[in-house]
This record gives sequence, C-alpha cells and structure tokens, in this order.
Amino acid sequence: MNSKNTPNLPARIQRVSGGADKKTQDELKQSGAIPAHIAIIMDGNGRWAKKRGLPRIAGHKEGVESVRDAVEACGQVGVKYLTLYAFSTENWKRPREEVSMLMRLLMRALRDETDKLHRNNVSVHAIGEVSSLPAEVQEELCDAIEKTKTNTGLHLCLALSYSGRWDLARAVRAIALGIQQGKIVPEEIDEQLISRHLSTNNVPDPDLLIRTSGELRISNFLLWQLAYSEIFITESFWPDFRRKDLYLAIADYQRRERRFGMVSEQLQKRHQQGTFLERFLKNVSG
Ligand code: FPP
Repeated sequence: MNSKNTPNLPARIQRVSGGADKKTQDELKQSGAIPAHIAIIMDGNGRWAKKRGLPRIAGHKEGVESVRDAVEACGQVGVKYLTLYAFSTENWKRPREEVSMLMRLLMRALRDETDKLHRNNVSVHAIGEVSSLPAEVQEELCDAIEKTKTNTGLHLCLALSYSGRWDLARAVRAIALGIQQGKIVPEEIDEQLISRHLSTNNVPDPDLLIRTSGELRISNFLLWQLAYSEIFITESFWPDFRRKDLYLAIADYQRRERRFGMVSEQLQKRHQQGTFLERFLKNVSG
C-alpha cells in the first residue's frame, strides 16, 4: 500500500529528461497497464516550505510546478483521467490570508496554463462546490473548461471545494428529489445509479490513488469512487513530486494484483510482473 518497500531512486534518476524520459515512458507503457484514472492527494506544501524557512505560499507555488509536470507526464504516458485534490471543503477553515493566496494562485495557474493545456489536447473539468469559489476563479475555471471541452487527450479534473461526503450528500439529495418527482423508483437504486449521481458521473473510478507526504489517510477525497483503487503513498512532499515519482507509482501499480474480491487463480497470470521497475532501477544504477 505504500512506497516504503520501493527502493529509493538512485541519484541519476533525478536527472531523467529528454530522450531518457521518452525511453522511460516507452518502457512503462510496455511493462503493464497504464492506469486509466489516477487521483492525487497533493499534500505537504506547507511542510516543504517550512523546511526551507519559507512562507507556506512558497510551497503552494512550487506545488504548481509539480502539477504542471504531473499533467504533462500523465498525458504522455497515456493516462486518460487525472483528478487532483486542489482544495477541499475543509481547506476553507485555513487562515483567510492563506485561502485567498491559494485562490489567487489557482486563478493565475488557470490563466497562464489554459492555452498550453489546450495545445496539448487536455480537457479541463472541475468537481466540487464551484459556486463557493471567488467569482474571478469561477470565471477562469469556466473559460478553461469551455476552451478545452472538445479536446480528446487527458481529462484533467480539479477537485475544488470538494469533499467525498459533500459529493455523497449531493447525490442522495438528487436521488431523493428524483423519487419525489416520480422519476426514480426506490427499487432502481443500485451502485450504478448512485455513481451516476456523483459529480464524477461518466468517469471511471480511479485505478490508482497517490498521496504525498507520507500521511495514511483518504482525507474525505473520492470516498465512493476509491472503493477498489490501489493506493500509493510516498514520503515526498508534493512540491518535490515530479514525473520520476509518478513513473515509480505507476510501476508499483503494475506489480499489484487487482482481485476485486476474487481469488488469485481466477485471474489471468500476469505477464512479467514487476519487470519495468526492475529494469528501470537497473538502468539508472548501472
Ligand atoms: C496541501 O498541502 C495542498 C493544498 C491544500 C493545496 C494544493 C494546491 C496546489 C498544489 C496549487 C494549486 C493547484 C493547481 C491545480 C494549479 P498543505 O498545505 O496541506 O501542506 P502541509 O500538510 O504540509 O501543511
């Protein structure tokens, strides 16, 4: 469940770039299934800053660089959906100054990155109580969603003012209203119907959940949707999390046996389990 059993990366991997990056991506694609949907709890921005004697916002700013790298790398390796926990319902309880700086940062990131996301065929989506965000953020978000809506590459979903319980409560309300209006009969309520009423409607459940900064919590993220997700926890703080960490998380995922409640023998024998991780580590240490 976590990266503690994953060998530390040799120093050379820190410099993976250009041609070496493309080669790593190709190997990753050949070594197993690329998760269709990755969800990330980006944690540790504040501690990253504190360690350096910097204000917390410096951690959030550097965190935007990690977002940029993760989005680009996910698109390149063929991940279809990337959902980022950018601001939780609970984050509103932070000091007013930090909330407003985070909102400004988000607004600027959307403004600065939308054209590039569009050029890279990424479509932007949002889940959460978007109406509670400052008007300027809503505007930038709507522009980004509108501009990129026909793109066919990576679906980038930002969870903003989001929590899993909020999502479930909202779904229950919508279903209750459907019953009241005679559009749903209670006997129809099953897992599919509930899924369709969640904000992630039409998006497959995450195959892989990544959480940075070593905390072992789901923190009210996609509570329903994460039922069968593989979990990868890394000790790295989010601002330090770059594509090499993403590749390791995917390689670790490829070694897992996802049984969905079945027994091992019912599943097809995995082809060359773990070979990517082994080759990856051998190459860089050799
Ligand atoms: C958690 O670190 C991080 C957040 C609450 C905000 C994440 C936001 C960004 C990375 C920037 C904007 C995002 C996008 C999508 C452009 P923390 O502050 O809880 O860290 P700590 O646990 O060390 O205090």
